[in-house]
Amino acid sequence: MNARDSNNPATAPVVISSRADAVAPAAEVAEVRPATSVPPASPRAAGVSRFHESARAQVAGGATYIDDIPEVRGTLHAAPVCSNVPHGRLRGMDATAALAVHGVRGVFGASDIPGDPVLAAFAHDEPVFAGETVQFTGQVVAVVVADDVMTARRAARLVKLDIESLPAVLSVHEAHALESYVLPPVHVKRGDAAAALARAPRVLESTFEIGGQEHFYLEGQIAYVLPLEQNQWWVYSSTQHPGEVQHWVSHALGIDNHAVTVECRRMGGGFGGKETQAGHLAVWAAVASRKLQRPVKLRLDRDDDFMVTGKRHPFAYHYRVGFDETGLLCGLDLEMLVNCGFSADLSGPVADRAIFHADNAYFLEDVAISSYRCKTNTQSHTAFRGFGGPQGVIVIERILSDIARELGVDPLDVRLRNLYGIESRNVTHYQMKVEDNILEPLMTTLAGTSGYRQRREQITAWNAQSPVIKKGIALTPVKFGISFTATLFNQAGALVHVYTDGSVQVNHGGTEMGQGLNTKVAAIVADELGIPFERVLSTASDTSKVPNASATAASSGTDLNGRAAQFAARNVRDNLAAFVAGLDLCGAGAVKFEGGQVISPTATRTFEEVVHAAYANRIQLWSDGFYRTPKIHYDKTTLTGRPFYYFAYGAAVTEVAIDTLTGESRVLKVDILHDVGHSINPAIDIGQIEGGFVQGMGWLTTEQLVWNAKGYLATHAPSTYKIPATGDIPEHFKVDLWPEANREDNVHGSKAVGEPPFMLAISVFEALRDAVAQAGGRPQAMNAPGTAEEVLRATSSFAG
Ligand code: MTE
Ligand code: MOS
Repeated sequence: MNARDSNNPATAPVVISSRADAVAPAAEVAEVRPATSVPPASPRAAGVSRFHESARAQVAGGATYIDDIPEVRGTLHAAPVCSNVPHGRLRGMDATAALAVHGVRGVFGASDIPGDPVLAAFAHDEPVFAGETVQFTGQVVAVVVADDVMTARRAARLVKLDIESLPAVLSVHEAHALESYVLPPVHVKRGDAAAALARAPRVLESTFEIGGQEHFYLEGQIAYVLPLEQNQWWVYSSTQHPGEVQHWVSHALGIDNHAVTVECRRMGGGFGGKETQAGHLAVWAAVASRKLQRPVKLRLDRDDDFMVTGKRHPFAYHYRVGFDETGLLCGLDLEMLVNCGFSADLSGPVADRAIFHADNAYFLEDVAISSYRCKTNTQSHTAFRGFGGPQGVIVIERILSDIARELGVDPLDVRLRNLYGIESRNVTHYQMKVEDNILEPLMTTLAGTSGYRQRREQITAWNAQSPVIKKGIALTPVKFGISFTATLFNQAGALVHVYTDGSVQVNHGGTEMGQGLNTKVAAIVADELGIPFERVLSTASDTSKVPNASATAASSGTDLNGRAAQFAARNVRDNLAAFVAGLDLCGAGAVKFEGGQVISPTATRTFEEVVHAAYANRIQLWSDGFYRTPKIHYDKTTLTGRPFYYFAYGAAVTEVAIDTLTGESRVLKVDILHDVGHSINPAIDIGQIEGGFVQGMGWLTTEQLVWNAKGYLATHAPSTYKIPATGDIPEHFKVDLWPEANREDNVHGSKAVGEPPFMLAISVFEALRDAVAQAGGRPQAMNAPGTAEEVLRATSSFAG
């Protein structure tokens, strides 16, 4: 195995002390930090730390986001009119007062849609604008369009909605009792969980709830729609999925896909929140733009963005788990109630991924999982980093910690005891063989380098003499499946254009949201052509360049688009090699591209010279490339098969302290060892690991969404919704990269990194629960997020 790209051995030096194919012994896993200044001189563009292609422009204000694009003359601005009840019959709308405001140009709703009034989402269950019923507080009923944005927003608040209230379903438990679902329940079984539980020496039963999460991208949702000639449209959208925005807009306008072009140069963060939700804004703006035949921009303000758009799915669980005196699992019966909100959106695949990740790293021999996709009168919950994975992983990690506490042993030992095996006990509950498992050496290495065992002893001793502040520690792993579970999305295209001066543009179907996709793709293209990174420019995602592209999601942006771009560049290189072979009378295979030069057995020329001569000889200097992920297949009806090309692995040790009088907590120390295969850009990968971890920490500590009894999201601004700030970053935060290449043949031997590290933050939650246990509290009673109130509730002997 260890298949790597033969033309691009990712043998880049410098970054990690060991690039051995074999598992590196502990001592060889050196601390890795990103280069902070000039990248080290290297003949290759990939495999070395380098700045994000837009880093300088972003910090200097020179990077263009959609609201920075110079506005076309005549541009109007839209603002949403939102439902103020969670469920009701919409009897009418009185826009008189809004229309009387100077500068207001119109109010548009369901009756103004020329095409289908239902969004072209896959379940086809979500209206573009609320029609006869409203289904959550914040649902968009209409948009007000005005000459400027503040006028539009003020006028939107003057629109009176006549709504007859209907009973609302606000909790998953209520929805489940009423069998109110957006999609049918899914049951996955392996072995006989009931029989295993019946003969298990010990059984634990528990319930657990976990909150959702607001994406809090720094650039809010925005779309800017321009009418072109003859019912054709140009759409700037801050979207992870330009192709879907194109599809939705054309569907709502009742025109062909080819009449709509969607462009996105970059997002100021997406995190899954712009996978589908960006499309709504584009459709709303397009409907208004078509009515007025004027360009229309729609940018939600932060509060509206909170109120209107979906979030991470909150989950509720009930489980019974069997185990023996050694901590070995025997039997798991798990029920997941998924709060989907009012429509399906991506809830089906999100809930599926939670099922696929309920094993995390562990072999579940006899298991039964039931997943209920509950319909509630809230925002329609959607993709968010990890895409249901975190909601699967957290349950089993919680279970293993609780088992360890029951048995009075270290949770790490219970975890190691239950890991997937190499030769046996290596098939998942969805029938996929785990062939690339590195968790045992990875976790053992991390336990060693972080001093986990000694620190646990020190913490126990420290807690014994500290009556108020208590510390806790936890080591948790992640095993995350890489590929879209919907197999068809695992395809990508790219275009590579070499201009006559030897400079290169690359365009692919992926989108840049800060994760560094364009930087990685440009490096891959540069290496393929043997030219410096700076010669390659990544251009905006554009549905008129690469069509039918999948969402940039499932962490697979580089795997898919990087390979497509590599193939496109290879086609151009092959053209050039054949041309040079003709000149020098050698085989094309003997022509090398490196260091900005094209080298044949008899001559060395600069890349620019060769390009120039090739152009003069009418050689094609641009090409497309196409890639589809091999080996994957999966049966949607039984949820079995090989949904993932490979797994990404990692582990984290987190140490926390809690104040037992106030419930406040702090993350003190974090040590991470994460597997990105052979990194294409270690600085960017480490940034993804740090960012993913901190975002996960926010989900599990301070980020709490509170809907009041009337279904109104009370936490809809940074004043009440707390994401981690710089002061929350642990003082000790060490990230190391596992040195081994991807064992599957993936671009440059790399692995996807966008989402997996998010789940490493489960170590924060487990460390908090460890601290609660050490304070004599009830860790089993603790729900997530572990806010100060929650820690206090679980710790205090008074509270219920
Ligand atoms: N990193 C930044 N800076 N901004 C983002 O919006 N989104 C995450 C992750 N990292 C995100 C990010 C999510 S949800 C995914 S799926 C991946 O990036 C998508 O990009 P990739 O497939 O290129 O890794
Ligand atoms: Mo990421 S949740 O797959 O956009």
